[in-house]
Order: sequence, then C-alpha cells, then structure tokens
Amino acid sequence: MAGLWPCSLTVRHPSGSAIVMRALRGRDREEWEELRAANLAWLRPWEATSPLPPQARSSFRSLVRHYDREGREGRLQPFVIERDGRLVGQMHLFSIGWGALRGGSAGYWVAQSAAGQGIAPLCLAALIDHAVYGLGLHRVEVNIRPENVASLRVVAKLGLRDEGLRLRYLHIDGDWRDHRSFAVTAEDLDGTSMVKRWRRGQPGGLEMAPT
Ligand SMILES: CC(C)(COP(=O)(O)OP(=O)(O)OC[C@H]1O[C@@H](n2cnc3c(N)ncnc32)[C@H](O)[C@@H]1OP(=O)(O)O)[C@@H](O)C(=O)NCCC(=O)NCCS
Repeated sequence: MAGLWPCSLTVRHPSGSAIVMRALRGRDREEWEELRAANLAWLRPWEATSPLPPQARSSFRSLVRHYDREGREGRLQPFVIERDGRLVGQMHLFSIGWGALRGGSAGYWVAQSAAGQGIAPLCLAALIDHAVYGLGLHRVEVNIRPENVASLRVVAKLGLRDEGLRLRYLHIDGDWRDHRSFAVTAEDLDGTSMVKRWRRGQPGGLEMAPT
C-alpha cells in the first residue's frame, strides 16, 4: 500500500475556481474548527456516530495523525475540500478493501455556505476517477439515508447505480439508520473519466478546464 497517501486532486469548478482535495494538515486547525462549529446543526442528521458509550473527543492533532496513518495503511483516503484556498468540506473514501474486493465507500459533506454549487458531485467524480484509475480499485459505493434528498441528487447527477435499501446499515445521528446504496464499478466507466462525464452534463458544456 506504500505510496497511496498522502495525495491531492485538483479540479476546476465551472465558476472558474480551483477545487483542491488534499490531506488535513496541522496548520488547518483554526479554520477547520471554525468550519465544523459553524456547520454542527447542518451536519448532525447525516454524521456517523458511535454505537459504543461516548468517549472523550479526540484532539485535532490526533485526528490528523489518525487520518495520516489510515491513509498510509491503505484503508482510507481522507480528503478535505478546499475552494480557492478556503476549506469548504470533506470527502473520504473509507473502508477500503483490497484482495478480491478492491473497493471502498465514499462519504462527504460541504459547508452550508457552499451548498448548491455542485461542489460535492464534482469532487465525488474526481474521487471516483482517482479510486479507479489512481488506486486501481474496482468499485466505489455511496450509502445515503433515504431522507437525504440533497445527497441523493449528488449520486443521481453522476448516474451511480441504485443497488437498493440496506436496513439499519450505519449508525448515524445516534441510531442505526437505513441507507440506500449506490455504486459504480470500473466496467461502468469503461475507460472514461467521471469528471468529464459530469462536465458534459453542465450548462454550457463539454470540457471546461483541465482536471
Ligand atoms: C449532500 C451535500 C454534500 C450536497 O453537496 P452540494 O455541493 O451542495 O451538491 P449540489 O450542489 O449538487 O446540490 C445537491 C442538492 O442540494 C440541494 N440544494 C441546492 N442548494 C442548496 C442550498 N443552498 N442549501 C441546501 N441544499 C441545497 C438541492 O436539492 C440540490 O439538488 P439540485 O442541484 O438538483 O437542485 C450537502 O448538501 C451536504 O454537505 N449536506 C450535509 C451533509 C450530508 O448530507 N452529507 C452526505 C451524507 S450521505
């Protein structure tokens, strides 16, 4: 798994701004904590929680170290999303499995102030291209609560396959929640780029800028 992490992905948003997906760094602390605090209520209904008794919250430094270790060991691709140099969200490929599976699950959030601008679908497209062509994975899935209309729109925009309902699949917002499962495999991409496909569906056009 050596060499898979850290890495960064850069894509151009249709507005012209640069979207960079990169590792969380020690010097992000102040900006990160402000962003998280400003979005607590926005994120709570959709955030993973632990079914175990509550434990002390881990420090920012240990979070950065955890992401780094999991990334280097090939289990996680923990990106933050930066737009024009400001943090606006997070996107992970987690539960990465190798061997006969070669797949992982994508999870994401975008700050409320940046919502509705197509950042998540563009980043998810970049993550899928990276997973398939960069990491050599076969499958990426996204699991979404049926109530999460905005996130259902994200996978619909990229044409991910609906693979049905998983009952009580993940512990979210304090309880086991049903999720709809969406997936894409390397065969679905057939050598094409998900970012390019996404751009073709955008108003105005085909290619907008190099990825
Ligand atoms: C789900 C989420 C990541 C979508 O990100 P995004 O970058 O806003 O994605 P899009 O711009 O494609 O918008 C998706 C949908 O959000 C809704 N939306 C649009 N503007 C919005 C706004 N200002 N505020 C809230 N929702 C908005 C619309 O339903 C939109 O679909 P549409 O483009 O067909 O109208 C984001 O809403 C979010 O972070 N939500 C909270 C955390 C979460 O749900 N994470 C996913 C868990 S599976």
